[in-house]
Amino acid sequence: MKAHAVRMHSQGAPEVLVLEEIDLPAPGQGEVLLRQKAAGLNFLDVYQRSGSYPIPMPAGAGNEAAGTIEAVGPGVTGFKIGDRVVYQGGTMGAYADARVLPTARLVHIPNGIDEETAAAVLLKGMTVEYLIERCVSLKAGDFALMYAAAGGVGLIAGQWAKSLGIKLIGIAGGPEKCELARKAGYFAVIDRNNEDIVARVKEITGGKGVPVAFDSVGKTTFQTTIDCLAPRGYFVSFGASSGKPPAVEASLLQSKGSLYFTRPTLATYCASPEDYAYSAKRVMDMLASGAITATIGRRYKLAEAAQAHRDLEAGLTSGSTLLVP
Ligand SMILES: NC(=O)c1ccc[n+]([C@@H]2O[C@H](COP(=O)([O-])OP(=O)(O)OC[C@H]3O[C@@H](n4cnc5c(N)ncnc54)[C@H](OP(=O)(O)O)[C@@H]3O)[C@@H](O)[C@H]2O)c1
Repeated sequence: MKAHAVRMHSQGAPEVLVLEEIDLPAPGQGEVLLRQKAAGLNFLDVYQRSGSYPIPMPAGAGNEAAGTIEAVGPGVTGFKIGDRVVYQGGTMGAYADARVLPTARLVHIPNGIDEETAAAVLLKGMTVEYLIERCVSLKAGDFALMYAAAGGVGLIAGQWAKSLGIKLIGIAGGPEKCELARKAGYFAVIDRNNEDIVARVKEITGGKGVPVAFDSVGKTTFQTTIDCLAPRGYFVSFGASSGKPPAVEASLLQSKGSLYFTRPTLATYCASPEDYAYSAKRVMDMLASGAITATIGRRYKLAEAAQAHRDLEAGLTSGSTLLVP
């Protein structure tokens, strides 16, 4: 069977993403054939494409998609033809109209949730789940800081935190993105283009600083984040949209007030099948209860994958971005 997939033959600029016709084998032992309706765009895809994360080439692009099972291979249990499923992680290659893949990472999409919503929310929602609920222990009334508040992860984080009573302070670039973040439930929003982040964080927290800062920007924000933390605060460095943060000096953590520094990844926090299933179910439950909703900022055709990457890297997107066949 023929399918269409966005592939890379080398790492580099967005132009390395090329839509190709590929041959799909029949599903083998423990595998299914999935007809995909939407793939989620994630900053991880940019690191894998640009060479920031070295990947053996050639490779498929993309890490998250949703669709309907069209065929099942031998030995498959728990999934049947017609089931609607979503997945994140595993072998790259999610930017495709159809795919053969193992069932290990497939999650049933509950009734009432469409495939686009599932693809827009699974990876980013699982990220928010482990950051807010397992990486650090935050409780109702606590302050925390989140960069890229109007981005894919950011808009989900604002809603999630609000539902738990956490006072999440968002940082976003420009008035429109700040307004989006405010509507998503952030306790307060700071415009990084027009305001002094450290001064505003101190003002909002009564001079104390935040006990937890989630920094996904990396290189350009490291010092600001350190300066926003309260003594004994947690620096959660979970991304590098602007490049890698500098090496962390133990003496800096000491002099700034016994700070903690962690660099967590979703891969570690959902490495076991139990953790993966737990986190995915928590996201689906949050969606089903209405505590979080998907904000799909823009849809691109698979053939426009390079442009989608350019726009994500340039900070031109907001909410979740989808690639659709
Ligand atoms: N560790 C993990 O487990 C994990 C899992 C998922 C995602 N992440 C990280 O979470 C972050 C958000 O991912 P996402 O897919 O939802 O992307 P996103 O937030 O939708 O897009 C990135 C945003 O970062 C902000 N930004 C600030 N400075 C930037 C710069 N110099 N270059 C580019 N962007 C800059 C921009 O928003 P403003 O203009 O509003 O500031 C931009 O829109 C990424 O860093 C990603 O790597 C980490």
